[in-house]
Amino acid sequence: MDKKELKKIVGDVRKQNSIFSDKSFLDNLAVPNSIIGRENESKKLVKFLLSYEKGLVVPLVSIYGRSGSGKSTIVQFVCKNLDVNFCYVNLRKAKTVFGCINLILSELGHENLKNAQGMNNAFVILEKLIIQMLDKSGNSLFVLCLDEFDTLFYDKRGKPSDFVYKLVVLVEKLRALKKHMCIITISNKVLSEFNLDDRVISRIGTSEIYFDSYSQSDVLKIIRNRAKKSFLEKIDDDVLQYCANISSEEHGDARRAIDLLRTSGEIAGIENKKISKKHIDEAVSQLQKNQITTIISGGSYHFRLACAALSRLTYVNDEGWHSTSELFKQYQKIVSSETRQISYRRFSEMLVELVNSGIAVSKTESKGRHGYGSQFKLTVDPDLIGHSCFTDWWTSVVESKKKKDDALRSVKALKSMSFGKRHSRFGNLYRNLGL
Ligand SMILES: Nc1ncnc2c1ncn2[C@@H]1O[C@H](COP(=O)(O)OP(=O)(O)OP(=O)(O)O)[C@@H](O)[C@H]1O
Ligand SMILES: [Mg+2]
Repeated sequence: MDKKELKKIVGDVRKQNSIFSDKSFLDNLAVPNSIIGRENESKKLVKFLLSYEKGLVVPLVSIYGRSGSGKSTIVQFVCKNLDVNFCYVNLRKAKTVFGCINLILSELGHENLKNAQGMNNAFVILEKLIIQMLDKSGNSLFVLCLDEFDTLFYDKRGKPSDFVYKLVVLVEKLRALKKHMCIITISNKVLSEFNLDDRVISRIGTSEIYFDSYSQSDVLKIIRNRAKKSFLEKIDDDVLQYCANISSEEHGDARRAIDLLRTSGEIAGIENKKISKKHIDEAVSQLQKNQITTIISGGSYHFRLACAALSRLTYVNDEGWHSTSELFKQYQKIVSSETRQISYRRFSEMLVELVNSGIAVSKTESKGRHGYGSQFKLTVDPDLIGHSCFTDWWTSVVESKKKKDDALRSVKALKSMSFGKRHSRFGNLYRNLGL
């Protein structure tokens, strides 16, 4: 790249940003200064937390609900505005249970520990830090917020349930010192879906707050408010309505709506135009493309093969649902001969990862006397996935399907000209195509 090219990039980015007055209101990671609605959920949380003022706080509150329903935002907004010490960590940043304790320690200003220093030692340090913090601030409650709590359970070797048990024991220890601690877990799943052992379950009780998905009109209120603050010119209400509709197609997702608004603004900025529905449509496909590329480029070679296997079967057969065994056979066909294949069991786990990443959905189906089996279906265009996985290989898949489709079309045309299957010259062709 030379200076001229860089200058062009700078110009394009400035153009992209030209229609915004303040983009920070479209930042999904920042906690906003004001919340639209969600009074009931906030009230429930405040009630759980403030019971420490009367000497008893529940050890653990579980917050759960669909993506983009405001869980992370509302918890942070409430905790930041109460007289409590609050530590928020997103466990997605930690790959192991030990990584999780390190994340908490580093949020509290402590350096990272090595695995060899052990979990018990880490908890001794955590206890000291909490006591110091509460003494310094004069507060009596420490709130530990574990966002994306489910990621903890991916590390089966790290004994996640033991880790939660240790946290709950810490709550009890602090209580004996007349200091209070409350753990808030945030997840898309309800707490009973996690593999927590009885020692934990009997201690934590059932303090849960469910965040129902937003309705279309809730999403509209949220983006109307953001649009007013972040764009130079007023955005037409029917455009905002369209954006809210798209973001509520599956379930009311405020994050998706804000992302769409920001991205369509950037696209409109480049064209030097006001945001229209067309820009929202373009933003939808751009965001989907970005999301898929991020997921696939971050996945292992075998993960990409699992994606490729499902894409190929979907594309070639024009069919949605595919069983694990069908997909495993397909995987075996496309895996490189120099690579060691993964086992059927590991491959099934890979398919679950695919579902977790949102690329596919699954269902369980009866196989008669053979019990039950899982079926998988792509949620996005197979062409997009195939390309992102292995571009050259996908091009050959597309070409061979095209050839087959062309041949089929020719045969159908011949059939309609009443050559029929019996015609000897075409007998082989019919047989080759399995007709
Ligand atoms: N009630 C609300 N008022 C204002 N903004 C909101 C509200 N709810 C959500 N938002 C905004 O929507 C976006 C998504 O919210 P948030 O990240 O809290 O969702 P989430 O439920 O934690 O989703 P996930 O499960 O995917 O983590 C954020 O930008 C947030 O600021
Ligand atoms: Mg969240």
